[in-house]
Amino acid sequence: MEPSLAGRRALVTGASRGIGRAMAEELGRAGAAVVLVARSRADLDQAADAVRQSGATAVAITADLATDDPATLAARAADELGGIDIVINNAAVLQPLGRSGPEIDPVAWRQSLEINVTAPAMITFALLPQLLAARWGRIVNISSGVAANPGAMINANAYAATKAAIEGHTLNLAAELEGTGVTANVYRPGTVDTEMQQTLRTQDPDKTGAFLPDRFRRLYERGGLITPEHSARSLVQRIADAGNGQILSVADASPQ
Ligand SMILES: NC(=O)c1ccc[n+]([C@@H]2O[C@H](COP(=O)([O-])OP(=O)(O)OC[C@H]3O[C@@H](n4cnc5c(N)ncnc54)[C@H](OP(=O)(O)O)[C@@H]3O)[C@@H](O)[C@H]2O)c1
Repeated sequence: MEPSLAGRRALVTGASRGIGRAMAEELGRAGAAVVLVARSRADLDQAADAVRQSGATAVAITADLATDDPATLAARAADELGGIDIVINNAAVLQPLGRSGPEIDPVAWRQSLEINVTAPAMITFALLPQLLAARWGRIVNISSGVAANPGAMINANAYAATKAAIEGHTLNLAAELEGTGVTANVYRPGTVDTEMQQTLRTQDPDKTGAFLPDRFRRLYERGGLITPEHSARSLVQRIADAGNGQILSVADASPQ
């Protein structure tokens, strides 16, 4: 049987590790060519090699979404593969973490909006003309359960705000795209065993408050995390047929 995404070309941000890397690998297994984006060259090269293991084309582009021009990045990705059909805006940062107050660094706050919301939107906007011209495109913005339950991540105020914002952006865009063949969906990937999770459970309670490390250490200790591969598979299997304007969550399956 032909892989479900044969001939499709995907862009995945934050693909050097964690969920983004697993998504790039899963897209490759499904037959797509993949552009992988992140800052760390060595990790990105390793991830691209892993995608190539399934015979897929993989191109690594280093970029910092806080500072590099998203439109230039999008154009470069499209040049590399002769176009993009699938956009997965996955890269995100947690910082700044800590009790809300004057000690929260405003530069870090703005940077979190830049990386988690503005860059994804601008990457998408840059690629929209070609997606619309092709009358087929899949835009998926990675959110978090915190968008539905903001109190679950006290002391991560910027992160919670950005995940609410990316969902608003995505669902509004989806309404605009209805009937075009291009869809925009949100994906909440579950609680996944990645560096981001490790960062949460190892925060110094004296610096950032006890809520985050306590909550995420408990989750980890009781085996409540799923693998990046599980989360990635759950999205990629549905990506072609997911509809439009959906908030997709990782499919139920026992944590592995
Ligand atoms: N893990 C979870 O339990 C969980 C739960 C809910 C939602 N999510 C969401 O899932 C997505 C992936 O999370 P993860 O757990 O896999 O995180 P992660 O392990 O921290 O990986 C984040 C990825 O983003 C890249 N990145 C970070 N800052 C960047 C920047 N300025 N420019 C370009 N790339 C940047 C990182 O690569 P470099 O450092 O090489 O740049 C890395 O590839 C995020 O949107 C996160 O909010 C995760």
